[in-house]
Amino acid sequence: MRSSFTSLLAVAAAIPAALAHYNFEALIVNGNITSPYEYVRQTTNSNSPIADVTSENMVCNQGGLDADIMAKTNTHAVSPGDEVGFTINSELGHPGPLAVYMSKAPDGTEANAYKGDGDWFKVYSLTTSDITDAGLQWATYVNNAGIHNFTFALPDTLAAGNYLLRVEHIALHAAGSAGGAQFYIGCAQLTVDGTGAGKPTDVVSFPGAYDGTEPELRGPHCQL
Ligand SMILES: *[C@@H]1O[C@H](CO)[C@@H](O)[C@H](O)[C@H]1NC(C)=O
Ligand SMILES: *[C@@H]1O[C@H](CO)[C@@H](O)[C@H](O)[C@H]1NC(C)=O
Repeated sequence: MRSSFTSLLAVAAAIPAALAHYNFEALIVNGNITSPYEYVRQTTNSNSPIADVTSENMVCNQGGLDADIMAKTNTHAVSPGDEVGFTINSELGHPGPLAVYMSKAPDGTEANAYKGDGDWFKVYSLTTSDITDAGLQWATYVNNAGIHNFTFALPDTLAAGNYLLRVEHIALHAAGSAGGAQFYIGCAQLTVDGTGAGKPTDVVSFPGAYDGTEPELRGPHCQL
């Protein structure tokens, strides 16, 4: 009896943490919510985060570079300026910043064959919304609840080609110690038309953009 009570407690304690995990599961294009993992590469770690910032999983989450997953993911046609975004299953359950990056596949490479080993540039971010009496507020985590979706406009000058659209939410609740930041990542496949001639200036690599010691990854308590 005692041992089953103890294990029930262990299960109960584990549930909130698991429920707080989340996935970016569906691409939104001009208000249309597509099917889960139709245009977003599916993960093989359920909804768990990535913690090792040097890992290849930083590109498109665990599973996102697997040949079978890449091959079965469709590529959505979009135009510069289109409104795109992601739904979240079930919500961004922890405070922290969100950013969206894009990377263009080399000419002649389809989006579903691109492993994201080129340059990435940031096209959107949601960071802090306010500092109130209750402390720092995150735009992704309003009144102690995570948002369920977000959209933004693709750059008007985006050059034509095949792209990965990578969303990253960094959960900082456990980031007081090194390696505690949790990266929730999703990659959608896009093909962009038009005559955009924009050239990104600030670019990063994944992995490579972080080394894990950034003050931003040590949590909101350390930012002041
Ligand atoms: C919206 O997305 C669904 C699922 O991908 C697709 O079947 C449908 O044709 C889309 N509708 C429009 C108007 O693009
Ligand atoms: C998107 O977010 C809005 C605002 O929180 C919410 O009302 C809506 O139900 C969400 N839709 C989906 C599909 O998550």
